[in-house]
Amino acid sequence: MPRKFLQLVGSCLLFLIVSNSIFAQKKSLAQKVDSVLHLMTLDEKIGQLNQYNDDHVATGPITLDNDKIGQIKRGQVGSLLNCVGVARTRSWQKVAMQSRLKIPLLFGQDVVHGYKTTFPIPLGEAASWDLEAIQQSARVAATEASASGLHWTFAPMVDISRDPRWGRVMEGAGEDPYLGSLIAAARVKGFQGNHLGDLNAVMACVKHFAAYGAAVGGRDYNSVDMSDRMLWETYLPPFKAALDAGAATFMNSFNDLNGVPATGNAYLQRTILKGKWGFKGFVVSDWGSIGEMINHGNVKDGYEAALSAITAGSDMDMESRNYKNSLAKLVTDKKVSIAIIDDAVRRVLLKKFELGLFDDPFKYCNEEREKAALNNPEHVRIARTVAAKSIVLLKNENNVLPLSKNTKTIAFIGPLVKAVKQNKGFWDVEVPGVDSEHIVSQWQGLQNKVGATSTILYAKGCEIEGDDKSGFAEAIEVAKQSDVVILSIGERRDMTGEAKSRANIGIPGVQEDLLKELLTTGKPVVVLINTGRPLVFNYTADHATAILYTWWLGSEAGNAIADVLFGDVNPSAKLPMSFPVSVGQIPIYYSHFNTGRPATDDKNRIYNSSYNDLSIFPKYEFGYGKSYTNFEYSKLLLSKKKIKQTESIEVSVTISNTGKYDGDEVVQLYLRDRVGSIVRPVEELKDFKKIFLKSGESKTIQFKIDKQKLSFYNQQLNWVAEPGDFDLMVGSSSRDIRLKDSFELIQ
Ligand code: BGC
Repeated sequence: MPRKFLQLVGSCLLFLIVSNSIFAQKKSLAQKVDSVLHLMTLDEKIGQLNQYNDDHVATGPITLDNDKIGQIKRGQVGSLLNCVGVARTRSWQKVAMQSRLKIPLLFGQDVVHGYKTTFPIPLGEAASWDLEAIQQSARVAATEASASGLHWTFAPMVDISRDPRWGRVMEGAGEDPYLGSLIAAARVKGFQGNHLGDLNAVMACVKHFAAYGAAVGGRDYNSVDMSDRMLWETYLPPFKAALDAGAATFMNSFNDLNGVPATGNAYLQRTILKGKWGFKGFVVSDWGSIGEMINHGNVKDGYEAALSAITAGSDMDMESRNYKNSLAKLVTDKKVSIAIIDDAVRRVLLKKFELGLFDDPFKYCNEEREKAALNNPEHVRIARTVAAKSIVLLKNENNVLPLSKNTKTIAFIGPLVKAVKQNKGFWDVEVPGVDSEHIVSQWQGLQNKVGATSTILYAKGCEIEGDDKSGFAEAIEVAKQSDVVILSIGERRDMTGEAKSRANIGIPGVQEDLLKELLTTGKPVVVLINTGRPLVFNYTADHATAILYTWWLGSEAGNAIADVLFGDVNPSAKLPMSFPVSVGQIPIYYSHFNTGRPATDDKNRIYNSSYNDLSIFPKYEFGYGKSYTNFEYSKLLLSKKKIKQTESIEVSVTISNTGKYDGDEVVQLYLRDRVGSIVRPVEELKDFKKIFLKSGESKTIQFKIDKQKLSFYNQQLNWVAEPGDFDLMVGSSSRDIRLKDSFELIQ
């Protein structure tokens, strides 16, 4: 027989064996789930849908319960949150092992940007536009968390947000669905690793489903009212991307969407998530959100709340106790079928099987492993790299940065210079036995870098908040004695995060006044802005000599900042959100519609879509961020100028590093569909590449434009590409477009 034929038969056989064994494994998992389910009483089934907080750390009102141990022993609890560390998780799991069916507990935690080793807050990390780095940081977090007894992280948060007043912008990836989707997938892959059930994998929980980031007025927990088209086009894509990346669980959200609380929203959870998208994992409610439907005014009491949530597809109740209190009666009253309960329980049990907890409930409880994972110097090295990649250079007048390592005297001034824990940002984890002193402060980072060669003088200058200027005089004195001033200002770490909405997003207190005073010395002033959101800081933007937007960078903050200040790392981050000139511009985002009376500049404001008293442009636009070097764009070439739906265009562009430093550039590709049955945005990010170029080096990079990139949701919510002309723009930010061309989709 010819060799090729034999090879074909061989590979077919192999395929059959492999697919059979996968099928067999899947089948046996489903069978195992069912075999447990068949043994369970209704009370035990409901128990699997019940999640409690451990006795400490909370982001919402804890229901006091003197009988947690008893309930776990009776199989009435399926999961605990805020319970970390091998010792603690083991002790609770031991209690669960005293229950009749010995069904293991799941331990979940908000491991949002690192566990012991803390990484930049997610919005900051998103600024790196570095998917590998983002995945790696989630990988480290999962390695540490799983070694510390955890099975499940309530992350990634993939809510698109265009309102920096909303405190939770810090947890996401910013304003753009394309960038947000790639980052969502990277984070899921990082958390879940190669395979759920591997020792170093934790389940991801994609949150908050859905549209939480569009809360009216940027006020946390507020209502959301949006068109279906906007929901599908802008807010849902990161959730879908996370699902496609294999996300094991979803969390619903506190907001109502068009009048129906997300928790009781069957359209979101049943029709879209479990229906159209075929999600096989389980949905956990947000903290107490089942009960909060009573406050929304959508249900009368806990009984109705439980009915609404379970019917809509919320599988597990986080801390509201309405499932515990009402599900059994709902079944007896024939309001909820046992099939609905069984479906929810199956989903939870399946994950417990996939994690391997039925084989060994203490699988993640190993002190040796915990110790090694929490003290791994490689994790610290990665944290430093990711942190440096997240710092955005907003301004660099006279190329004052990078500073020379031979600078004689440096004044390091500001309320955040010596801060330690602040650098972790909101949503850090209190790891037992680990104190916050393992964080490298900015002061320490500078000492590590140039402490031996430069004199570094310190003055606090002022507090973050308040109007006390009594420290100004000392700060000015210190500045006068120095060659350069570094001023570290911003928010407190807990001014962004859950329930941290702010109507005034200026730099608090008298910090900008301090800058004003320091500038009178005539010394160059490099400002570090520490925060979790885009702030409004026009005075600083217009007058500081240089600005680094440092967000909250985590464990290695000080070292990473020093790396960038002194040029060991050339900044390459780009803003994942538009920075407004004023709160009055919010919501502000680059991919807006043109309107019937477009405003194109700030000069002509008559009867067009502008403000009479404010610029239409952001202070810093989406995709903006400088480097110590310069990049030139040339030779934009399209392989075709007309394509059919089945074809694609190869786009190539040459980027040259024409400056003195090696560096990375994020090359961004935007498209505009000139005429659509639904109005299309003036530009939409459709691709990007982050490339490294040595000084003097040029590289030609390729992008591919296909139907997927040209499609959008039409009036009937079908994903279509409509024939017509498209503008193609390649640039260094959404406003800094360097090269343009156009092409036509012909059928
Ligand atoms: C937050 C969730 C979080 C949960 C558990 C809630 O208040 O909205 O994002 O996962 O608490 O801490």
